[in-house]
Amino acid sequence: LKILFVSSEVHPFVKTGGLGDVSASLPFALSELGHDVRILLPGYADTLRKLEAPPPVPGWNGARLDGATDLLEARLPDSTVPVWLLDAPGFSDRPGNPYVGPDGAPHPDNARRFDRLARAAAAIAGDRAGLGWMPDVIHCNDWQTGLVPVRMLLNRVPVAVVFTVHNIAYQGLFPFATFQELGLPPWLWHPDALEFYDHLSFMKGGAVFADRLTTVSPTYAREIQTPAHGWGLEGLFSHRAAELTGILNGIDHRQWDPETDRFLPAHYSSQDLSGKRTVKEALQAELDLDPEPDTPLLGVVSRLADQKGIDLILGASHELLAQGTQLAVVGTGDRYYETTLRRLAEYHPGRVGLHLGFSEALAHRLEAGADMLLMPSRFEPCGLNQLYGLRYGTVPVVRAVGGLADSVVDADSENLAAGRATGITFLDDTPAALAGAVRRALTLYETPDRWRRIQVTGMGQDFTWERSAARYVEIYRSALEASEG
Ligand code: ADP
Ligand code: GLC
Repeated sequence: LKILFVSSEVHPFVKTGGLGDVSASLPFALSELGHDVRILLPGYADTLRKLEAPPPVPGWNGARLDGATDLLEARLPDSTVPVWLLDAPGFSDRPGNPYVGPDGAPHPDNARRFDRLARAAAAIAGDRAGLGWMPDVIHCNDWQTGLVPVRMLLNRVPVAVVFTVHNIAYQGLFPFATFQELGLPPWLWHPDALEFYDHLSFMKGGAVFADRLTTVSPTYAREIQTPAHGWGLEGLFSHRAAELTGILNGIDHRQWDPETDRFLPAHYSSQDLSGKRTVKEALQAELDLDPEPDTPLLGVVSRLADQKGIDLILGASHELLAQGTQLAVVGTGDRYYETTLRRLAEYHPGRVGLHLGFSEALAHRLEAGADMLLMPSRFEPCGLNQLYGLRYGTVPVVRAVGGLADSVVDADSENLAAGRATGITFLDDTPAALAGAVRRALTLYETPDRWRRIQVTGMGQDFTWERSAARYVEIYRSALEASEG
């Protein structure tokens, strides 16, 4: 198949969260299966700056897409997968975060920016871009690509569209005035189309008009059909339930493998975990934690957002530390959480290690060097960190929602006896429930043999992309049938 994969983040070009990881590793896995995949990504200023003068894609005639645009070509590292970078106003002239300004507020022209991306995708798919290459399927991801099927519809482009929801909490909502500014036809201002409680919803563009819908875990596919997790779109997703599939994300073992990880000071495997202790010692030194290799080290790598249950960690922190643990946090996001975490670290020198910022290298060292990884998420479409934790023998302590419920097997007595346990899960979204789960983990940690068994079982889980990528191919084929039928 010829697949155009459209995303607002692709690692290592740009990444703010798991979308960046998936938008690199899934296209790579698809290309390994023999498909012709090309990626379309905005050419953000910071992305272009890191590249050495990427050449223009031959033939591109997209200048008529409102404002001067260019299409530049790079490749996914160590692969032949082309990454097409849309060099256009709003992207290439603006350094910093792809979505928000330095004050944390969304860029005021986000609708126009990502509509531009949608129009470029539609032009490529409709063979109006001069590239001489047309996809069989367009795979769109999250609200930033929600207008792709809409622009295709308006331009009568008969290419199949698959839309993946990575996070329904971010919908791309804009006032009616923006709907008018984008020149969208009035018939689209309707609850069965783009209108959502008197707003323009980019997410609905994908959710209503794509041929097939997917999300990133089976449990989340069910959750978004309920009021508790649907953010107002539960009706739409239940209505389209027959066309909605949950496929668990995979991880890229070329990047995330404790035997080869280029960011680690020592390596290890499930046969010999001794290197993990070396990484832990280095991590404690790096984060100014007391040098105590036998102290249980709790790790957090996270966007600091309400979704991630950071308030539960803060609420439970005194009890966790009172039990003789250390806490290491790498994260960036909401000011409130950053300030409160900074205070916590100041209050507990040597016990709480904190890095506020985005550091790929430190994220790898924390995934490897911690003993347990805390993810008390309020909701979690898939979650990649727990998958990395499992792979690195860092036992995940997670709230049993979304992809966390689908990937971590709780160490209850039955699962322990059957040799299935890979982590600790809990249900209530309260600090007490999190503290209780960590207490259970600490009890297991005290018996090294039992702990080792949980680590090794986790490290042996198969979360490679092969299987999930093959599932996507099935979805592409059914989208093709739907769009032809
Ligand atoms: P989400 O996409 O909701 O943020 P995921 O668990 O799917 O959650 O993916 C998060 C990704 O972002 C992981 O690759 C994680 O290592 C990375 N990450 C999150 N915060 C940071 C940070 N401050 N520094 C480096 N990497 C981070
Ligand atoms: C979103 C979700 C996260 C998921 C990631 C990649 O950011 O919050 O759970 O793993 O997308 O699909």
